[in-house]
Amino acid sequence: MEAHEIAAVVRNTPHTPPEKGRELYDFILKNKLKRCLELGFAHGVATVWMAGAIQKLGEGKVISVDVRDALTLNPSATEMLNRSGLSAFAELHYDEFSYTWHLKRRLQEYRQQPFDFVFIDGAHSWDTDGFAFFLVASVLRPGGWILFDDLNWSYATSPSLGNSDFVRSMSSEHRIDHQVRAIWENLVLQDERFGNFAEDGNWGWTQKLEDTQQARVLEIRTARCSLPLRLMRKARQLMLEG
Ligand SMILES: C[S@@+](CC[C@H](N)C(=O)[O-])C[C@H]1O[C@@H](n2cnc3c(N)ncnc32)[C@H](O)[C@@H]1O
Repeated sequence: MEAHEIAAVVRNTPHTPPEKGRELYDFILKNKLKRCLELGFAHGVATVWMAGAIQKLGEGKVISVDVRDALTLNPSATEMLNRSGLSAFAELHYDEFSYTWHLKRRLQEYRQQPFDFVFIDGAHSWDTDGFAFFLVASVLRPGGWILFDDLNWSYATSPSLGNSDFVRSMSSEHRIDHQVRAIWENLVLQDERFGNFAEDGNWGWTQKLEDTQQARVLEIRTARCSLPLRLMRKARQLMLEG
């Protein structure tokens, strides 16, 4: 399916904006990533972008996992896929519990048929996604890619959750911390199986290395950021290179 046709289906439905969806689509096409996994699909916007690219590749599938509550979203991901005509290129799992439990149940199957690409865009919490990274690393083929969304997200600044009782009852550390960034910096960048790290705004890309002797380089693509942030990032880059 062509990008403009996908854009016409998803329009401005939350959460992935059209320009980021297009980026995802182009990346999958360019790298021929036929077997994809998405953790957290909500309305299925990124699912449709990925399924559209996979259809264009001619074969493959995106397996997407969310919780059962996602069935009540309007439009639901099921509806969105039907509208796009791409249902054959996606498999939606509405899990009773969490994608970490979905992965527990499917671990053997997925290890035998590893993924080319995993998009982690779900809980954004240290506990869930730190563990998800650990699980995903074992179901990703060498040479495959992971994309983390929301490196700079926190519960405190979340427009949908920030004022909720749930968030107000959290400790300030839990509320304020950029938990995906904590996973990115403390787990992903430190993991010797991974390299080709790229930070691009809220997105963090990394590739599972085919050869662990490959150089592990961090590229920061964000053009404009504050001096302290730039210095912090430079220090991290030097640490990685060292
Ligand atoms: C930001 S939305 C996903 C957006 C989607 N990837 C897109 O680009 O359109 C996050 C989704 O993650 C789901 N989620 C959060 N924690 C989860 C968990 N532990 N297991 C499964 N889904 C989860 C939420 O229900 C929500 O629908």
